[in-house]
This record gives sequence, structure tokens and C-alpha cells, in this order.
Amino acid sequence: MKKYLFAGPASRELGERIAHAINAELVEYDFKVFPDGESKIRIITNVQDSNVIVVQSTYPPTDSKIIQLLFASHYFSQNGAKVTAVVPYLAYSRQDKEFLPGEVISIGVIAHLFRNVGIRRLVSVDIHSADAMAQFPFPVYSVSAIPYLAKYVKQNFSYEKPIVVSPDFGAKKRAEVFAKLVDGSSITLKKERDKNTGDVRIEKESLDVNGKDVIIIDDIISSGGTVAKAAKILYEAGANEVVACCTHPILVGSAIDVLKNAGIKRIIGTNTVSSDYSIVDITNCIVEHLMTLNE
Ligand code: R5P
Repeated sequence: MKKYLFAGPASRELGERIAHAINAELVEYDFKVFPDGESKIRIITNVQDSNVIVVQSTYPPTDSKIIQLLFASHYFSQNGAKVTAVVPYLAYSRQDKEFLPGEVISIGVIAHLFRNVGIRRLVSVDIHSADAMAQFPFPVYSVSAIPYLAKYVKQNFSYEKPIVVSPDFGAKKRAEVFAKLVDGSSITLKKERDKNTGDVRIEKESLDVNGKDVIIIDDIISSGGTVAKAAKILYEAGANEVVACCTHPILVGSAIDVLKNAGIKRIIGTNTVSSDYSIVDITNCIVEHLMTLNE
């Protein structure tokens, strides 16, 4: 079956790189956003009876990027193509359970929308949780950007036995893997989020970071609040230089100022989203996985 790749409006560059690496033909399309915010896509290439990989990340403005992904996927499946979605940053994956009674499990709704437009499988990078993945009624693969981030840090900075810090239990495993790759050690902080206000509190504890360089690792940096609070505690415990690494540098609003004011010396993210801090290229991370999938 012929292989096409749709490099969606949110991921044109990344999509084109993936297409080149896997030898897929790019789908030609026109795209516009009307003044009222509605998106319109016109597919020019005939994709009848082929495999189409739809690459579209869903960083802010999130909902319009999801709609574009749904529109394109629906068109392809209606025209007899088998659709694989590559969504480098999968929005709504933090809304993976009913934390308070009555809360919508939003990622579950997204999962059903994906299925209803004909998506048959999903590849994403460092999906927030296993609970989020479990909501999908078709195969979901979460590939890890951690080795790529660690390699970048190792090649570009000379941190001596750095301490790799996970700001909460959710990122513990990622910190352990990262630490191994940069010849450091890892610790996990105890974070609690107020379920009503969303405010984050990190427990103060005695940490052995005096005079050490510290790398905070997380899947997402959004408002910067989590990393800033972790940095404060680490500096109070005598840390030397604190840097922040993440897979998805969403960095909304004043996040950069929040991080700089907290003394974060560097922000290193990947190109799952488009930002000034999307330094590490994860094309190969996705390509290597796509190569393992059957047609
Ligand atoms: C939460 O569990 C995530 O792993 C991140 O720690 C969180 O989403 C970061 O958000 P923010 O930068 O707004 O604190």
C-alpha cells in the first residue's frame, strides 16, 4: 500500500522531516483559518486505499489544533485510507481521571473522537500517564524523548554527577532513566496539587544537593509553577545551578519569567511543540517507532 504523510498545520516542519526519513509522500493541502477562528482544510492529493500518517501536535491553541487533526483524519478515512495519528504532544492527557466528583475525563472524550473519525492507532511522545493511554479504544504508543534530552545535555554541558530531580511521583521513572544517561543520580520531590484551585505545593525536606548542579525533569512545563517551586526548594538546600528539561515546553503566559525569577539557568525542551525552547529534535524518536509498525 502506498504511504502518505500529512504534515498538519501545527507540525509542518517535523512532519516533513518524518516523511523524508520514512520515505512517505507528503499530502498536498490548502489550509486557512477564518477571522472567526474556524479552520478549513482542502486535501489535494488523492489518498484512496493508502496508509496515511497524520502528524499534528496539539499545543496551544489546543482545541483548534485538535479540530484540524479530526478534520484531516476524517477526510482520509472516508476516502478509504488507513489512518495512523502521530500527535507529538497529546493535549488533555492530564485530565485522565475524575479527580473531583463530576469532572469529565477529557482525554477519554478525545480518544473517542479520534476513533470516530477513523484513527486506527496513535503514536505520541511521553504521554502524561498510563491512565490517559488506557482511555483509547485502539493501540497507543508512547515513545520517550528522555534519551534524546539526556544526550543533548551530556553533549553540550559538563555537569559533574548532576542530581536529576523529578518534581513529583509521576516523573520519577523519567528522572531515573535520565540520571543514568548523564551519569548522575535522581531524587523525587513530593508534590501536591489542590484539586479545586490547581495550586501546587511541594513538601520541603532535607535534600542532599549542596553545591551540586541540578536538572529538573518533567513531561510538561506549562505555567512554570511546578518547576519554579521545585527550584526554590533546591536553591534553599544549597544547589549550585538549577536547569529545567522537559519533553513538552508549552510555556504559557509568563512561564519564562516565572522560571527565570526562580533562578532557572536554562530551559531545554523538544520540538513536540513549537517554542523558543524546542531545542532537541525528536524526529528520530518517532521515526524509529514508525519503522516498527506493520502497514
Ligand atoms: C503534572 O503532573 C505534569 O507532569 C507537570 O508537572 C505539570 O503539568 C506542569 O505544569 P505547570 O508548569 O503549570 O506547573
